[in-house]
Amino acid sequence: MTRTSPYTKLDPQFLYRWSPRSFLSDPLSDEDIMTLFEAARWAPSCYNEQPWFFVYGRGDRLSEFQTALVDGNRKWADKAPLLILVFARNDFEERGNPNHWAQFDSGSAWMSLCLQAQKMGLVCHAMGGFKKDRAHEVANVNEDKFTAMCAIAVGKQGPAESLDDDLKEREDPSNDRRPLADIVHEGPLPG
Ligand SMILES: Cc1cc2nc3c(=O)[nH]c(=O)nc-3n(C[C@H](O)[C@H](O)[C@H](O)COP(=O)(O)O)c2cc1C
Repeated sequence: MTRTSPYTKLDPQFLYRWSPRSFLSDPLSDEDIMTLFEAARWAPSCYNEQPWFFVYGRGDRLSEFQTALVDGNRKWADKAPLLILVFARNDFEERGNPNHWAQFDSGSAWMSLCLQAQKMGLVCHAMGGFKKDRAHEVANVNEDKFTAMCAIAVGKQGPAESLDDDLKEREDPSNDRRPLADIVHEGPLPG
């Protein structure tokens, strides 16, 4: 399926990005991995707090990181050569008060990383299906200070044929999106 939009000025990167499940296990270079995090580093954040924190596993550490995923995701994500755990720092570092924007900002950072990956011919698949406690454990990240938000599988896209039959059928960019009218409104809502 090819995604389309009636908005001709829309940058095609937004239509091209999707979340495949088939990965090649080819390792990524240090330079490529750091370029992804560099993209995330430049994301905007409230008071420029940069509350995101990424802990990643690859190579020998990959299997340990994979234990943080739920089984349904492991079925396909175990092939990806890079697994990133995304954490959001709960409080502002200097003043110590709660940062209500930390998770919002961490979302911006992940999207920057994802779009940068796409520019480099890589794909990302975010997963809320992970075990939070285990994520903190494998990453050795303090549970009081950070909230585990997401796991991300990153790598080169593999062929759909290499997936199990049930997943193979779903290996197609979904066109399933709410219409604009559902997500945006000019002025206050009526009534
Ligand atoms: C925060 C977050 C959590 C997600 N969790 C999972 C997950 O656990 N397993 C999965 O297969 N996909 C997961 N996804 C992928 C979404 O299902 C996918 O982004 C959505 O269906 C839209 O499809 P697209 O990314 O291909 O455009 C997640 C995406 C995000 C952003």
